[in-house]
Amino acid sequence: MAKSITILIGTITGTAELVAEDVAPVLEEAGYDAAMLDMDGLTPDVLCENDLVLICTSTYGQGDVPDNAMELYEALAEQRPDLSNLRYGMIGLGDSTYADTYNQGSARFDVLLRELGAQRIGEVMRHNASSDELPEEAGVVWARQWVEILAE
Ligand SMILES: Cc1cc2nc3c(=O)[nH]c(=O)nc-3n(C[C@H](O)[C@H](O)[C@H](O)COP(=O)(O)O)c2cc1C
Repeated sequence: MAKSITILIGTITGTAELVAEDVAPVLEEAGYDAAMLDMDGLTPDVLCENDLVLICTSTYGQGDVPDNAMELYEALAEQRPDLSNLRYGMIGLGDSTYADTYNQGSARFDVLLRELGAQRIGEVMRHNASSDELPEEAGVVWARQWVEILAE
């Protein structure tokens, strides 16, 4: 039976969703069942019931997670479930124009998940909207390496 990866999307203007849509086929080609879920309305259960997730989130405000991810982030921070069975990857989208808070949304999730016992696989991908690189293309390149690390 194929292993499952749930891609959890935190976005306001849809870039993270575009990245997830291009990353999902890379995961499928590597033999995983990939499901995409917008973070809207999700509870910490989604991280307790899955053992492998890929977080794909942008940054807003004062280095915050996007509005659709806020409820999940705050519930995790408050309820502090044991996530020691969870492995995750992290794709962060930001813009270096916001120098003080560059990619802080993904960094916040990364710190919190590790505090809760989850194990990050690979390095965090950080996309800079002020660069020439297309986020979807960067995501595909990163995901190809990520599935190799996962297979080790
Ligand atoms: C109002 C606003 C605030 C933002 N604040 C930050 C920020 O604090 N840090 C950062 O790295 N990027 C910031 N960004 C950049 C976005 O995170 C980036 O453009 C991202 O690609 C958007 O992804 P999304 O379309 O999935 O929401 C901000 C963008 C906007 C429009």
